[in-house]
Amino acid sequence: MSLPFKNTLENFGKVARGFHWITALLIFVLIIVGFTMGELGQGPFKFQVYGYHKSLGVLVLVLAALRLGWRFMNTLPQALPTHTQTERFLSKTVHVVLYILLIGMPLSGLIFTWAGGYPASFFGLFDIPSPIAKNHTLHEVFQELHEVMAYGLVGLLALHIAGALKHHWIDKDNTARRMGAHPLIVVPLLLLFIGGGVLAIREPIEELFGEEEHSSEVRDVESYNESSQEMHEGALNSGLAPDHESIMPWVIDSQASRIEFSVEPSGESKFGQAVSGVFDHWDGQIDFDPSHLGQSHVLIRIDVGSINTGSEDRDAQARAPEWFDAAQFSQAVFESESFQHIGDDQYEVSGSLTLRGKRLPVHFPFTLKISHDDDGDEPARADMDADLSLNRLDYGVGQGQWENGDYIGANVELRLTVRATRSDS
Ligand code: HEM
Ligand code: HEM
Repeated sequence: MSLPFKNTLENFGKVARGFHWITALLIFVLIIVGFTMGELGQGPFKFQVYGYHKSLGVLVLVLAALRLGWRFMNTLPQALPTHTQTERFLSKTVHVVLYILLIGMPLSGLIFTWAGGYPASFFGLFDIPSPIAKNHTLHEVFQELHEVMAYGLVGLLALHIAGALKHHWIDKDNTARRMGAHPLIVVPLLLLFIGGGVLAIREPIEELFGEEEHSSEVRDVESYNESSQEMHEGALNSGLAPDHESIMPWVIDSQASRIEFSVEPSGESKFGQAVSGVFDHWDGQIDFDPSHLGQSHVLIRIDVGSINTGSEDRDAQARAPEWFDAAQFSQAVFESESFQHIGDDQYEVSGSLTLRGKRLPVHFPFTLKISHDDDGDEPARADMDADLSLNRLDYGVGQGQWENGDYIGANVELRLTVRATRSDS
């Protein structure tokens, strides 16, 4: 008689077996890929591997939900007389925790992906919309949880598989056979599991015995900190700005001001990423008077290493030589050359932007609202807003394999929000 779809009191049916072995294959691949992909060199291939890891992980979540639904609609094979009380308790506990991890692993992966502002695409077919906003702490906590659960999963699976093999080889009972554990399925899966296990313990062992490696991220952060320090010391008094003393100077309210950017992937690639963020450290010298546009002058310096996209890993990549090369070109500098009043609160500025050592002309409109203080007509507060687009490739931001917009778009949308007060008010 052929195997029924549903379970019986003696046997797992076709559906439960199908779920079990497909999930096992996916899990072992995910473990191997998960423990390897972080070491891949930056580039489109890494994006693809991460994209497939996430997609397969989400597939596991979907399968786990269907599998649990099916399980609750079914009878379960009863414990065999050869199963001792301890074994029954142990196997039940391990199965429950494995089910929890089958849900917890993908959920934690999704949460830290979303909280870092990364996309979670399902095989490039569609992006799973994020229900949460970018959140640095959440990103870090759930990334750590994903890793801890991964080690827990490997440990529990070792126990689970050892139990199954013990029943088959030592007790010589039907436990493995009733789940359809044929050597043609089990042997390749065992090899995959051993591969995943070796990868899982490699890093802790290296840390225990080897020299502690300074990861590239730490090096990036260190060199960034040094250059950032230099920038702040040299800050705005470098004498670069011409003398505009006759024009009213403004003091930027750094709490209320922001330089934001966003990039959409422009290519056809399945796993292109939208990126958005801010620059945390920047400053400027604003000498601006609407009635003396000819003498007005603005100089903004952005500490490019202070890029903040909500994920430290991504920020470290952005500071790397292929992108901003923050160790060599620590600042982006905007300097105005001329202003034009184009109506009401609308102005236009022409100037230059120096980025990654390359200076190019820029030209953009902005809105400026100047409010006066309560007891006089002296201007007290200025609200400046501007949106502009840049092509990062014009500045060489994104070298080598990043020199196209397939994975990270070439077009960068910038939003400037500058709130300033009169320096003498
Ligand atoms: C070579 C790898 C594997 C072998 C040999 C194996 C073997 C088995 C066997 C024989 C059973 C039936 C136990 C019983 O009748 O009491 C079982 C059940 C189970 N296995 Fe595995 N397994 C493997 C991999 C995995 C993986 C990767 C997972 C998922 C994380 C997993 C999760 C489960 C769960 C949750 C059950 C309980 C099924 C239920 O009661 O609904 N197994 N496994
Ligand atoms: C059952 C499903 C999953 C398993 C078994 C799994 C397994 C793993 C493992 C073993 C690692 C390496 C851990 C480390 O050293 O940090 C890892 C990392 C990672 N996983 Fe998963 N994962 C699963 C689902 C997901 C999902 C659904 C996502 C996102 C949507 C995801 C995103 C990631 C990312 C981005 C990393 C890299 C973390 C880093 O660079 O620190 N995973 N995963």
